[in-house]
Amino acid sequence: MTGADGRCPAVPPEVLEGEQVTLRVWAVDDSEALGDLVLDNLDRLRPWMPWAAAEPLTATERLGVVESTVADRASGVASTYGIWWTGRLVGSCGAHRRIGLGGLEIGYWLAADVTGRGLATDAVATLTTAALALDDVDHVEVHVDRANGASAEVPRRLGFELVSALPHELTAPGEVGIECIWRTDAARWRRRSAIDG
Ligand SMILES: CC(C)(COP(=O)(O)OP(=O)(O)OC[C@H]1O[C@@H](n2cnc3c(N)ncnc32)[C@H](O)[C@@H]1OP(=O)(O)O)[C@@H](O)C(=O)NCCC(=O)NCCS
Repeated sequence: MTGADGRCPAVPPEVLEGEQVTLRVWAVDDSEALGDLVLDNLDRLRPWMPWAAAEPLTATERLGVVESTVADRASGVASTYGIWWTGRLVGSCGAHRRIGLGGLEIGYWLAADVTGRGLATDAVATLTTAALALDDVDHVEVHVDRANGASAEVPRRLGFELVSALPHELTAPGEVGIECIWRTDAARWRRRSAIDG
């Protein structure tokens, strides 16, 4: 993938520090830990994450998944991070260049036993700040199926605006097929940051 000047698009830093979490881009050495975390949480990821529909991955497949995130980052297509909290891997989030010029779409998931603490909200806030600091990014979106209330609360809590709710192809079993798009831009994000201090 290349930008308007023929170069790879800019990517956020490899490590990002939030208020509670640390985000670190996936590295090949993480593949076993990531695979174990997905396996432990497969039942709750399946309703919402298209990639979780398949059977548990073998060690080779786990490695392949992480290698593809490493390649996506090298080409600027996406930056996918492990979410670390109190020294423990607890989830993943990523910023993807799949919503057109100037935009990054953020996705996320957490292990079941760490929900309800604001960790996903912190991770998305941290990644949004880093995304909007890139020269060629002027907006960030979160796309959520209407049935996924817990997920929609994350952008809502962060002051994103719900800009559309339109029929969409079903990609995971929990979905009702209405894709809600939540968006923020630099001005909106600055206002929110000023309010939050
Ligand atoms: C979506 C998902 C990450 C949301 O997890 P979550 O724990 O609800 O989100 P957060 O970590 O931001 O925590 C928010 C909760 O912590 C509470 N909280 C506590 N301290 C907080 C803080 N400092 N900041 C924000 N919220 C805080 C909030 O009140 C909220 O609780 P509530 O839902 O009872 O109101 C999780 O449900 C998940 O992994 N789902 C499966 C995968 C998925 O659907 N991914 C998204 C696909 S679009």
